Amino acid sequence: MKKIHFYIALTILSITFIGWNNLNVDTLEPKNDDLIEKKIDSLLAIMTIEEKIGQTVIYSSVEDVTGPILDKNYTTYLKNGQMGAIFNATGSAFTRKLQKIAVEETRLGIPLIFGYDVIHGYKTIFPIPMGEASSWDLELMEKTARIAAKEASAEGLHWTFAPMVDISRDPRWGRIAEGAGEDTYLGSLIAKARVKGFQGDDLSNKHTVLACAKHYAAYGAAQAGRDYHTVDISLNTLRETYLPPFKAAVDADVATFMTSFNELNGVPATGNEFLLKDILRDEWNFSGFVVTDYTSINEMVLHGYAENLQHAGELAMNAGVDMDMQGGVFKNHLKTAIDEGKVEISRLDEAVRDVLRLKFKLGLFDDPYKYCNEAEEANIILHKDHLETARDAARKSIVLLKNDNNILPLNNSKKVALIGPLADDQFHIIGNWAAKGDRDGTAVSVKEGFEAQNKSFKFAKGCEIEGGDTKSFKEAIAVAKASDVVVMVMGESERMSGEAASRSNLKLPGLQQQLISEIKKIGKPIVLVLYNGRPLNLSYENETVDAIVEAWFPGTSGGHAVTDVLYGDYNPSGKLTVTFPRNVGQVPIYYNMKNTGRPEDAEGAHSRYVSKYIDVENSPLFPFGYGLSYTSFSYGKPVLSNQTLSNNQPITVKTTITNTGDRNGEEIVQLYIKDRFGSVTRPTKELKNFKKITLKKGESQTVEFIISAENLKFYNNNLEFKNEPGDYDLFVAGSSNHEFTNSFTLINN
Ligand code: BGC
Repeated sequence: MKKIHFYIALTILSITFIGWNNLNVDTLEPKNDDLIEKKIDSLLAIMTIEEKIGQTVIYSSVEDVTGPILDKNYTTYLKNGQMGAIFNATGSAFTRKLQKIAVEETRLGIPLIFGYDVIHGYKTIFPIPMGEASSWDLELMEKTARIAAKEASAEGLHWTFAPMVDISRDPRWGRIAEGAGEDTYLGSLIAKARVKGFQGDDLSNKHTVLACAKHYAAYGAAQAGRDYHTVDISLNTLRETYLPPFKAAVDADVATFMTSFNELNGVPATGNEFLLKDILRDEWNFSGFVVTDYTSINEMVLHGYAENLQHAGELAMNAGVDMDMQGGVFKNHLKTAIDEGKVEISRLDEAVRDVLRLKFKLGLFDDPYKYCNEAEEANIILHKDHLETARDAARKSIVLLKNDNNILPLNNSKKVALIGPLADDQFHIIGNWAAKGDRDGTAVSVKEGFEAQNKSFKFAKGCEIEGGDTKSFKEAIAVAKASDVVVMVMGESERMSGEAASRSNLKLPGLQQQLISEIKKIGKPIVLVLYNGRPLNLSYENETVDAIVEAWFPGTSGGHAVTDVLYGDYNPSGKLTVTFPRNVGQVPIYYNMKNTGRPEDAEGAHSRYVSKYIDVENSPLFPFGYGLSYTSFSYGKPVLSNQTLSNNQPITVKTTITNTGDRNGEEIVQLYIKDRFGSVTRPTKELKNFKKITLKKGESQTVEFIISAENLKFYNNNLEFKNEPGDYDLFVAGSSNHEFTNSFTLINN
């Protein structure tokens, strides 16, 4: 077949379509939306069905894999114009090579989109998302996403499969590490910040990438915390808890969505018209494209929702999926489905239009190689400013869970025994889903952090993360004996969280607890620093050690950040965005649970017949919103501008916070409200606002929050989002665990 170069074809057809008179140079800007649609019309008019289907297909390269590779022939499909996008292909040189095939060797020369999981940094790795969320610092999260986009786009990438905005309340689920935690309000703000960070204001800016809100929807509610498992929740819970972060991403103009692996109330998300059409398109007016998660179309057969692959493809396309990731179902079966009248060609055209629109917006039709620039790549990757931000992000993400007798911060004169399988680690420290982060050399371990700051310490590994034996205990015990204080860096391996990494046991793995108990016998104070991708069961550690520093997986500059915190060069300010249970039996446990008719503390109830366990109390070990500082803060009673609130008259609540300790510090001031009763029962409390403030020692600041009737809306039994007149309680505090201190009434007006 005679090869028609795309640019020539497009120019001719655009001219034919819009006419010479309208061909004004200004309107050729890719930002001109009408012109883009006209160009797409022209393009669609010359595309064969096969070429159209090609735009709905994405395959992984085999150079880097993030799931099972069913089909390795991606270069053949690329040459045949059977692929519109590719993932797991990175680097200026490699992406340029593949783009050249798409542009020069296919009939229409339509450029490819290059996608990748840039979850918490690209080469400079920031703390895992759940860790970074503990900073409650939206500007910081926008900034780290921007840096990730800058580094990724310098390596030829246009699209990240992030942010993951799944709310999860189940620490057994390994993917809790990738999200923002258990709270919908906070999670929605973080979703927005991350989308803005990745995408910036202009998709054609070569330092931004398309973001992808995933995994749509309710993936974090997998039964028993087992990955990919069934989700069966009420529509109220779906709307109120799981969907708002996705809506927030749409409001922030997120370019793409990814469907989730799970079924939702009997219908797999990838074939779910209610989610993909009714809500996403019709209610939220999403105008980007929807990609499936890895082979999730194919999986609809195993879910028992599709008879065979062709049927699965029909269900997905008809439900509103625009791009098939890795499964080859659209490539192999969509044409037959269209020929048989099972899928309308107009639906395929819609999908192709959505994909092409973003290619225009990225500026790929102007310059398909604009993101492949080796010189820029070398300048941008691991830039020293990025590493500095990584250190700052890691410090701000650290949560001080315990600090008995102010054992921390450490005094420089103390001799430290640095012990534990993660103390000298550069591999696990960057966590799971760490894109192109180096696992051997770039990241700074705690040991290196200590060395860089000339701390007086001796190191002994003591044990492995998992398994192993006790033979290295001896050396660790000797080192501990010769010290003034022991710092143990322990936790999970990076593989123990992330995808397909659910755990049924939330304790420290291997012999780590045993090593703690041996060191404890020596009688020296113990500081435990933790790397982990989920809330762990720290009941034993909490009883045994003197201080606990939750560092998550802190990323490339993690060792510096941990050192800064341990020695007080940074005063910790992070607060948990997930609840830490006392044991795995309490799971799911989260701060905004319902009260039940027989709460544990119900007045007059027979103590046996209340909603509790007989072997553990109901309260968590560490609640949502909790985190200590090296200073202390006192909160004044919240003062309301009015005791009544109406639909058009908001009120303000003011609270004065004082730094009562002897160090400067930051505090995350949180406002919680409780609706006393409703036509649908309401949670015992809900986070409604927060502010991070900096207070010098002795300083006070009055923080003001506005409470409007809008903040009090919820989904009633008719799934209407409304508020209801009545009494509400509130408190302002540094944790979700607090008594109510004031109240107000919402009146009908
Ligand atoms: C994961 C996604 C990821 C995709 C591509 C899947 O297995 O669930 O989160 O974006 O792979 O790597």
